[in-house]
Amino acid sequence: MNTPFNDWDDAPLSLAPETSRAAVAADTTAETPPARQEAAALAPVKAADKRVVNGRGDINQLAPFKYSWAWEFFLKANRNHWTPTEINMAQDVQDYHHKLTLPERHMFENVLAYLTTSDILAMRNIGLAVMEKMTAPELQIYQARQVFEESLHTWTYQHCIETLNLDQQDIYNRYRVVPAIHGKIALANRRLEKILVSDLDLTDREILHEFVLSYLFFAGIFEGCWFYNGFSPIFALQRRGLMKGTAEQFQYIMRDEVLHCAFGLRVIRELMREENLQLDPRAVAELWLEADAAEEAYARYILREAILGYSADLHMGQFRFVANRRARQMGLPEPFPGATATLPWLDEQANLRKEKNFFETRVTEYQTGGSLAWE
Ligand SMILES: [Fe+2]
Ligand SMILES: [Fe+2]
Repeated sequence: MNTPFNDWDDAPLSLAPETSRAAVAADTTAETPPARQEAAALAPVKAADKRVVNGRGDINQLAPFKYSWAWEFFLKANRNHWTPTEINMAQDVQDYHHKLTLPERHMFENVLAYLTTSDILAMRNIGLAVMEKMTAPELQIYQARQVFEESLHTWTYQHCIETLNLDQQDIYNRYRVVPAIHGKIALANRRLEKILVSDLDLTDREILHEFVLSYLFFAGIFEGCWFYNGFSPIFALQRRGLMKGTAEQFQYIMRDEVLHCAFGLRVIRELMREENLQLDPRAVAELWLEADAAEEAYARYILREAILGYSADLHMGQFRFVANRRARQMGLPEPFPGATATLPWLDEQANLRKEKNFFETRVTEYQTGGSLAWE
């Protein structure tokens, strides 16, 4: 039987004799305690003193804002809330077990396997490596919401895996045993390991550069390209009337990821301006090349046999097209000049609104506020 939790049963912390209240009160010769002197000396926070990193201001005081756009991101993110159990998955069970072809099932399972591992990585990156380096609370508050959203995404994949009765042992271990999935995860892990250090000295220019590269990788590539384009194979099924519940779940995730990417790129631009930092073009080019090679191996594996309306070539064409967009958002040269949109319907998926009512699975639009402007 579980023991009920009673917070009133907690024993009060006892003060050690030498620091008891009575002892402090009796010491009338003591001068003003240092903490009180410090409190009296604090000056009001000025917005202009805030910095993305390396700030010395009061991290506990939200306003005055310097980055009011970050607060707007937080409010916007809260309008896109849903939980995976609200979406009807009944037809997906039928589709998966009776309608999908073997190549379609291969693709579906491996996309799910990749995504579920990726979202945990994304959560650890923003929550453990990035957030603590920020020195303005309005930035941290959006990132705290982002941490929650990444965990919600993990719940969503788990809900799909459970609903479809997939072998969890098999799905969750694929990133370890399938080299094409492992390649993407390993690349992201390498980036994360470099900055997953709490005393990273961001006043050191080289270390700061490494931190920004890593943030750029996660916001611009991992979320902005790999996630943004990562749901496309499932959307291709949805466009044929298959796996519509899963696809709807992924559309909600995609909305979050678009915001994560836009927020991250904005933070990086502000940081670079404040710190007067330029990125090494060779290091950025290497980021894109590594990401492209890993994505290509992944696409060739999940789509080793083309499925109706989708192929590895279409996937890679769209990846390069979106990569150019992310580079432009950062004011960087396009890594894949001339790439064209091979999946012109993808942006529409990200901007789907209630009135289009593609899915017939839900009768309400879950967005709780006004319309969202994505990019
Ligand atoms: Fe996510
Ligand atoms: Fe994300």
